[in-house]
Amino acid sequence: MCGIVGYIGKHEAAPVILEGLSKLEYRGYDSAGMAVFDGEKIQIQKSVGRLKVLEELTHGGATMPGTVGIGHTRWATHGAPSDENAHPHYNQEETIAVVHNGIIENYLPLREKLISKGYQFVSDTDTEVLAHLIDYYYKGNPLEAITKVMHRVQGSYALGIIFAEYPDQIFAVRKDSPLIVGQNENGCFIASDVPAILKYTRKVYFIENQEVVRLRVDHMHFYTVDEEEIEKEPVTIDWDADAAEKGGYEHFMLKEMYEQPKTVTDTLMPRIKDNDIVIEELGMSDEEINAIRKIFIVACGSAYHTGVTAKYVIEGIARIPVEVDLASEFRYRNPILEEGTMVVVISQSGETADSLAALRESKKLGHKVLGIVNVVGSSIAREADNVMYTWAGPEIAVATTKAYSAQLIALYLLAMKFAKVRGNLDEGAFKSMLGDLKRLPGQIERLLANKQRIQRFANRYIGAKDVFFIGRGIDYAISMEGSLKLKEISYIHSEAYAAGELKHGTISLIEEGTLVAAVATQDTLFQKTLSNMVEVKARGAFVLAVTNEGNTDIEKAADYCIYIPRTNPYFTNSLAIIPLQLFGYYVAVGKGCDVDKPRNLAKSVTVE
Ligand code: F6R
Repeated sequence: MCGIVGYIGKHEAAPVILEGLSKLEYRGYDSAGMAVFDGEKIQIQKSVGRLKVLEELTHGGATMPGTVGIGHTRWATHGAPSDENAHPHYNQEETIAVVHNGIIENYLPLREKLISKGYQFVSDTDTEVLAHLIDYYYKGNPLEAITKVMHRVQGSYALGIIFAEYPDQIFAVRKDSPLIVGQNENGCFIASDVPAILKYTRKVYFIENQEVVRLRVDHMHFYTVDEEEIEKEPVTIDWDADAAEKGGYEHFMLKEMYEQPKTVTDTLMPRIKDNDIVIEELGMSDEEINAIRKIFIVACGSAYHTGVTAKYVIEGIARIPVEVDLASEFRYRNPILEEGTMVVVISQSGETADSLAALRESKKLGHKVLGIVNVVGSSIAREADNVMYTWAGPEIAVATTKAYSAQLIALYLLAMKFAKVRGNLDEGAFKSMLGDLKRLPGQIERLLANKQRIQRFANRYIGAKDVFFIGRGIDYAISMEGSLKLKEISYIHSEAYAAGELKHGTISLIEEGTLVAAVATQDTLFQKTLSNMVEVKARGAFVLAVTNEGNTDIEKAADYCIYIPRTNPYFTNSLAIIPLQLFGYYVAVGKGCDVDKPRNLAKSVTVE
């Protein structure tokens, strides 16, 4: 996720900004830049690559004199990692500079409008739209221009802005992307996260949605989006630097689990326009969508599990046959890809060797590949014919959580788009599913709020030897991911089984007290899964059930129940996975495991 640092004070700004940005490196980035007012004009230096490159370019900041400036580490979203796309961005006269975290959803129409008014763009970013739009509204009053822009743009943003005409001020605003400001006796700071300024001050103000801050050397003023001045109370940070990087969470994995409502929103909302699903990057006409005869989904690990879910969703609503394959199998088994087959490769890192090889194999066979990828500019993103990005931001914990949730959303959108174009989903059903999708972030938030109950339950199982996860249909796909989350970070052996398969062998492993987690979110399969629960309970299993609110019948067959809010049956994975992630996490924490860096695992598997 991008990082922002800004400083106005008695010292040189550039070294303070570089130091602050270095404390945000853990968030992941692909380029870095700074804008400093040198007494006459705003100077910008930026470069693709590590922060070290920017440090060398500016001799540690020495070539950028001035005491007011803003800096940025960019995690590419709109536009590949490049010098041009790195922040800050200027307006045309180079009198305004902007750094931005987040995504401007309506940047395309705004860009077109600005171009029609004579503005010229030098980057592919959504951020440059902001620089020109501020310029468009600027009539000598920065606050007025900024608030007008806030009324005009949709999406998420944290911004740092400087104006050459107001060199004694920095402006900062936010909506749905984090931003803090702080002060000490030598100046004021803005940052996207506490660690960036912890060296200078522990007294910070958390900026709320739609608030604006005007920072001067020795004081700050806070405003609403309607330019009314407001009072804010500072918070004293007492975490150490390490905890601060994790935003106060004990582990990155927990932090990332808590980012899921935002991740889901960011992947979803830019693709919903006027009650329709618009996936511009799909690059397929309605005729081409109608011509699809089969979809091959290829991925590894958790990404493969989202593919298994997608098979049920795409086949269920779009009625297109889907084959899901592990990339390591696909690449060597000489797959039959007939005419009309679309290949979808799913990958968080975009660098997984087997997935990349599967992509190349498909292209060699003459098939177009759609990549569903998180890391912009990664190998899979570059080599796929079309890329649908999941806007999860960098994932640091090895065990995926938020990228998995974002992949699910991308796949639901694809399924619904195909279903609608092919006439398999009527307007009413489509609208109702859109409504359910939009409710997911709030529902995930509710489930996360229940973490203590799951923690207490998890603590009872830190000594478990084997755990089984069972479910049918989409619940089977959820079980696979629940099982992987537990085993990879807690080192407890666990297996996922299609519930109906148990009695064909695995049920012999059930002993007195064996934990069986049964996922039963599909109403049409509920009674069937209930019978399987009764079977394992009769053999001594302790049954944990995950089901929909209202399904209290399950209590007859379960020893412990977790209820998820009601949603469309095709979307239950997005909710049921939350307690299972928390369960895996708390078992691992209880056992004292290195949760963020489990043994033998790497975040990006670039070898076979
Ligand atoms: C599990 C996990 C892995 C990845 C797999 C694919 O928590 O993270 O199973 O899902 O290695 O990685 P990507 O998505 O980067 O291709």
